[in-house]
Amino acid sequence: MKRLKLGVLGSGRGSNFVALAAAVAEGKVAAEFVVVGSDQADAKILEEAKNREIPTLVCPNGKYRTKLEEEIEEGLAEQMVKSGVELLILAGYMRVVKRPLLSRFGGAMINIHPSLLPAFPGLRAWEQAWKAGVKETGCTVHWVNEVVDGGSVIRQIRVPVEVGDSAETLHGRIQKAEHCLLPEVVRDLAEGRIPWLKDPRKK
Ligand code: GRF
Repeated sequence: MKRLKLGVLGSGRGSNFVALAAAVAEGKVAAEFVVVGSDQADAKILEEAKNREIPTLVCPNGKYRTKLEEEIEEGLAEQMVKSGVELLILAGYMRVVKRPLLSRFGGAMINIHPSLLPAFPGLRAWEQAWKAGVKETGCTVHWVNEVVDGGSVIRQIRVPVEVGDSAETLHGRIQKAEHCLLPEVVRDLAEGRIPWLKDPRKK
C-alpha cells in the first residue's frame, strides 16, 4: 500500500506525535512523516522529529499570540504543500487556523482535542471538564474548519472521571487515550476506512 504523507504541526511537548511515530515505525500505520512544523523554535516536538530524522520547520511567531499573521500562515501553508503533505495533523498546535491553511488543507486536516467535543472546546479542556464535575470526559479527533474545535467529529474515546481525580491525574489518563486514538484514526484514514472530506490522493 502507498504510504500516506503526513505533516504535523505542534507547539509543545509532542507526545501525540511520538505515539503516532511509534505506530508508524512499528508498521501499524501505512504512512510516513514528510515534515513537522512549529510556531515555537524551542518546542520539544521539533527535537522529537529531528531525533527521527524527519524534516522540521519553524515559522516566525508574529505579533499575535493566538493566531499567525496572514503572510506567515501563507508561508507555512506553502511549505507544507511543497513537502507533499497529504494529511495535516494538528497535535498540540496552539494557534487558530485561518484561510491560508484551510484553503489548502481543509478536508484533509485533523486535530486532537482533550475532551468529548462538542463539550469543552478551547484551552485546558480537561480542567474545564474536571471543574464542571462531569462523570466522564475523553478525547476527540475531528476535522479542522474555521470554528475552533468545531469541525465534524471523526472518533472519540471516553475517559471516566474517577473519585479522587485531580485535573492533572485526569489529564494524564486522557493523554493515554489520545495516544491510542490518534494513531488509530490516521491508520484508518490511510487505509480508506474513514471517509475523507477531501482526499488529496483522489484528484
Ligand atoms: C493534547 O492534549 C491535545 O489534545 C491538545 O494539545 C495537547 C498536545 O499534547 N490539542 P502533546 O504536545 O501531543 O503532548
